[in-house]
Amino acid sequence: MQKIVTGPRDASPCLRSIQIEQSGEAYLCRETETLLEGMTRLGRRGIPVGCVNGGCGVCKISVLSGRVRQVGAMSRAHVSIEEEARGVCLACRVAPLEDLTVEVVGKMTKAFTLANVVGASS
Ligand code: FES
Repeated sequence: MQKIVTGPRDASPCLRSIQIEQSGEAYLCRETETLLEGMTRLGRRGIPVGCVNGGCGVCKISVLSGRVRQVGAMSRAHVSIEEEARGVCLACRVAPLEDLTVEVVGKMTKAFTLANVVGASS
């Protein structure tokens, strides 16, 4: 399985490794930035940049392991209370507190299917 690790250009003591369940990719994300900001550094076609403020739901993910810090409001139209209790959140509204494994469950899912990951590297 392909593994890509990307990170910000400057070194930071607060970098966390974010593993994407579907593709096996990983990227580095500062504790001071959102998971979506870090994810965009993968350069993956199909990672849409939506509203970036918790309103459109395009960046919906499920946190499978690790803890996140919420940095802003998430629309209940896109993440219900029950989903939030199961670890579902919006990548543009959370920052990592530790290394994470996440599953992309929103409209970005297609960008992380194995076929698209293999296609992106060729
Ligand atoms: S980009 Fe719109 S909710 Fe995250």
